[in-house]
Amino acid sequence: MPEANIVYLSEVDSTNRYAVNHFHELADGAAVAAEYQTAGRGRFNRRWISPPDQNAYVSFVIKDFPYDLQKASWVGSLAVLDALAQTAPEISAWLKWPNDVYCGARKIAGLLCEGVPGIDGFAGMVIGIGVNINMPAALIEKIDQPATSVLFETGKKQEVRAFVAVLAACLEQRYRCIVDDLEAVYLEWKRRNFVLGRKIELVTGLENETVTGRVSDIGRDGRLIIDTADGCRSFFSGDVKISKESLFSE
Ligand code: BTN
Repeated sequence: MPEANIVYLSEVDSTNRYAVNHFHELADGAAVAAEYQTAGRGRFNRRWISPPDQNAYVSFVIKDFPYDLQKASWVGSLAVLDALAQTAPEISAWLKWPNDVYCGARKIAGLLCEGVPGIDGFAGMVIGIGVNINMPAALIEKIDQPATSVLFETGKKQEVRAFVAVLAACLEQRYRCIVDDLEAVYLEWKRRNFVLGRKIELVTGLENETVTGRVSDIGRDGRLIIDTADGCRSFFSGDVKISKESLFSE
């Protein structure tokens, strides 16, 4: 993956949509960042709140990646942790399967990875990342799930463009790590997933079923393995809820 060339847009519906639609014109490793998204998208087609000039909205174009979306998500989510650690070392962030980044019990960032079709199959992928940077408390409280921002956590404002540049550099570095040692990246991604070993409630993506149990493992293929009262079950998608008692216990 070459060094990121960042294309800045002042306004776009969604940087992911833009990166997918312009995939073949954009260079490998290009990043599309916007100051404002009018229709930011999250998983399950949910809305991603994208107010102007406050947060990072960026989509990376990955063409030369002989792996899958799962591995793209390891690279992207570890890069977010690295970029947060560099920008605001006082924050302690963790990963929540499958693609969220949390501080304590509040979500600070999310990833939306999409495959892009080509003439003979798969042309590559887009890793879309939204990180709440300067979103103030008044707006955070309007989000329909517990959320946070770097400003909310630290009391300090950050330059959004500087953060995007740090994130691009971290992504490039994590990309190199995956080429050098795929297994080490998987093990780190798994270790930094707070859900591992904890009691959770999973609302499954397709059937909207609620499953309760303890997470015993997260597979290389991305499946979450849960020990439930009915035995061991595994899932590829869904929303995890961690009980308060589990959040603060070992
Ligand atoms: C989620 O948590 O559901 C994923 C959120 C992903 C949001 C980012 S913001 C940049 C990129 N463009 C989008 O429309 N979505 C992703």
